[in-house]
Order: sequence, then C-alpha cells, then structure tokens
Amino acid sequence: MNGFSVSAVSPSNIAIVKYWGKHGNQLPNNPSISFTLSRCCTDTKIKCRQNGSENYALHFLFEGKESPKFQEKIEKYLAENQQYFGFLKGLDLEVESSNSFPHSSGIASSAASMSALVLCLLQIEKAVSHDATPLDMRKASFLSRLASGSAARSVFPVMSLWGATPSVPDSSDDYAMSLANMVAPVFKTYHDSILIVSNKEKSVSSRAGHSLMNGHPKAEQRYKTARENTERLLKVLKNGDLETFVQIAESEALQLHELMATSNPPYKLMEPNTLKIIDKVREFRHETKLQACFTLDAGPNVHLLYPDACANEVKCFITDELLQYCHDNQCIDDVVKNEK
Ligand code: PMV
Repeated sequence: MNGFSVSAVSPSNIAIVKYWGKHGNQLPNNPSISFTLSRCCTDTKIKCRQNGSENYALHFLFEGKESPKFQEKIEKYLAENQQYFGFLKGLDLEVESSNSFPHSSGIASSAASMSALVLCLLQIEKAVSHDATPLDMRKASFLSRLASGSAARSVFPVMSLWGATPSVPDSSDDYAMSLANMVAPVFKTYHDSILIVSNKEKSVSSRAGHSLMNGHPKAEQRYKTARENTERLLKVLKNGDLETFVQIAESEALQLHELMATSNPPYKLMEPNTLKIIDKVREFRHETKLQACFTLDAGPNVHLLYPDACANEVKCFITDELLQYCHDNQCIDDVVKNEK
C-alpha cells in the first residue's frame, strides 16, 4: 500500500457530574456525565507512509509547529498501550493537529485532542486491514479513555455517561456510552457560553489533580456523592426538571474546587472574577426565574449553561453584566453537539 491519509474532528466536553480521582489504568473512581460540545474541537490529520521497517515513527505538529510535549505524550500513550496498536508497525506517521478555539483562551482540551487522535488511529487500523465497516465507537471511547479519561466521553454526541452506575445496565468504567436516547429534548438545545476569566494555562495538570484524591480526607464522601448525583442526574435528564439540574451542576462544580482547595498541597483555581460571575449568575436566575447555571472545569473559567429557549435573554445578560469580568471580554459560545 502507498501513502494514505486519515483525519478526524473531535469535540471537547463539559462534565456536569465530575470525574476527579482514578485508579489502575485510567479507571474512574466514580461515574461522570457530560455534554458534548460542538464548536470547541480538535482537527487531526495523519499522513501515513510505509517505512520498510518493523517499527513506526511519529512526527507531531501542533498548528504547524513542533510540540515536543505533545509528541512525547502521544509516544508514551502508544508505547504503554502497544497491545492495541500493532497495526502501526512499519508506518511513518505525520500527525498535524489544530484547535478550533483560540490559542489565547487558556483552554487546552485533552478530551478533544486525544479523542481526535484515537479516531484517526482507528481509521488507520481499518485502512491497513482493508476493513470498510464503520468505526466501533465503543472501542474509540475505550482507547480515548486510556489517553485521557474525559476523552472517553467526547466520541458521542449530545451527552455521555462514563462509569458503571446501577440504573444503566450497559454502563461501564471501561468506556463511555451515549445518553442521546435517554435525555429530554430540552437538553439537546443547551448552550455553553465559556467565560474566559483567565487565559493562562492550568496551574495543576489533571494527572496531578487526580492523584490529589489519593489519601484526600474527603475522598470517600466525594465518590459517594458523585454516585448519588449520577443517579439523580439520570432521572433529571429524562424528566426535564431544570431546577434540580441547576442544583446538581452547581454543587458538582463547587465540590470539585472544594476538593482541590482542601487537598495536600492545596490549590485555589478560582479567581476573584470567577466568584463575581457566579454571584451574578445566581442573582440573574433569582430575578428572571430563567434556569441558567454555571459549571467549572479545573480552572477559573466559567461555563454558563442554559437551554435555547432563554438564549436571547442570557446573551444580553452576558454582554451587559459578565463580559466585564472576562479576560479581553472573551467568551466562547458553544452549543451541545447533536446527532447528524
Ligand atoms: O480527563 P482528565 O484526566 O483531563 O480529567 C478531567 C477532569 C475534569 O475535567 C476536571 C472533570 C471531568 O469530568 O471532565
């Protein structure tokens, strides 16, 4: 076979019930549930050529430039999981990756980048074995999980559940599954306006963050609450009870930050403007009765979540009241990814 190319675009996701704490080979200590986004994506292309040897060689470019850090991360991932990647033997791989979200937003989504990489690798496997069947998305989720836990959830549109939970018999710690058929229509209309409070890189990597949960005095209570919140959220997603959705989303976000603040060493990842935005969002909800709420990742930026039915009012609120707290007035307007 001569040279060939594969490509994939894969989105970021935002967790409502958070994954924080892991064991073994990237296995979660509690189930998590996320919205899959549609505009914050990584686009990855891989050019493949036979190199006539028994080994593979990889060269990685991020937005046209060498990125030793990411190259090393991919090589480590492939080496550690080589039992799944035997099909790469004898190939030279030129990997080129870029993000759809701005450089200066402080967002570095390993969920988008690692799932895009895995989707490309699975296409290579199909190409070298002349297999024209569709990609196995469960396998894509499984392999993405091994690269970055939250990436397991990015391969499905709308919403994903990753981690075994009693009321969903198919759920598993090994891979995520789609919740698209288990959610009320309103959740397919959700917006995520990402308010960029700071564009600096995260001060704690998620690898270090997860390990802070080992021996954390509140770890067991946290896993219990997360398991309960998963079951509560699954009900809410079916019955469309937005008030309970808001309560779960905001308490999960604050718990994540509380866990980091009380770990050893402790991390304070919110900034004064994060808190100002949180207060404003709660005030807005109280006054308007519109069910907009916030969630947070492991950083200071605020994800404002709301259904499309109140998008006009919320967008005016963002412009009038929230952009003043954002770095360079930056806000990334994203929406839930829907099935094709
Ligand atoms: O996938 P990781 O190892 O980058 O961990 C992600 C952890 C959070 O983003 C904080 C929560 C989550 O569930 O996405």
